[in-house]
Amino acid sequence: MKAAVIYYSYSGNTRAVAQALSAHLKGEYEVQAIELTALDEPASFLGQCRRAFSHTRAQIAPVDLDLSGCDLICVGTPVWAFGPVPAVNTYLDRCSGVENKEVILFATCGSGTGNERCLQYMQGLLAKKGAKGFKRFSIQQSKVKDKEFILSRLKKIF
Ligand SMILES: Cc1cc2nc3c(=O)[nH]c(=O)nc-3n(C[C@H](O)[C@H](O)[C@H](O)COP(=O)(O)O)c2cc1C
Repeated sequence: MKAAVIYYSYSGNTRAVAQALSAHLKGEYEVQAIELTALDEPASFLGQCRRAFSHTRAQIAPVDLDLSGCDLICVGTPVWAFGPVPAVNTYLDRCSGVENKEVILFATCGSGTGNERCLQYMQGLLAKKGAKGFKRFSIQQSKVKDKEFILSRLKKIF
């Protein structure tokens, strides 16, 4: 069984959760981790918020978009202005081979405001492409280094 763990991380939190998820999956799956790189990310908080709020798409570095060989697809993002980051939007627009695939969506967040809206938006993009069986979780930034906490969240969804 193969799993892809696709994520974007600006300051490391989502990467930490993606790594914990990958480690958790490794008993059952061969895991391919794909970290997205945005080529046109503004450095300012306001610029990042503005683009994320309007669901802008980013330019991303070349990456594997064909997920047809995967049994499980995991996609993670930081919550920015109540939505996914632009690089994740781009990936979800462009990826292929997700029909009838099981999906895990995850987000890391500050206060948690907007994390459901964010995950719902991601789910909508993949549902349009025929993915099914969505599971979702989010982790607050204060908990990303707490491996026991993350494990307890993962056990709830598996
Ligand atoms: C531009 C920007 C917008 C953010 N907007 C939100 C938000 O709407 N809700 C929230 O709970 N956290 C928000 N945060 C906090 C991030 O979601 C949180 O710090 C996340 O863990 C960062 O992940 P990363 O370290 O992988 O980049 C925002 C952070 C940034 C930089």
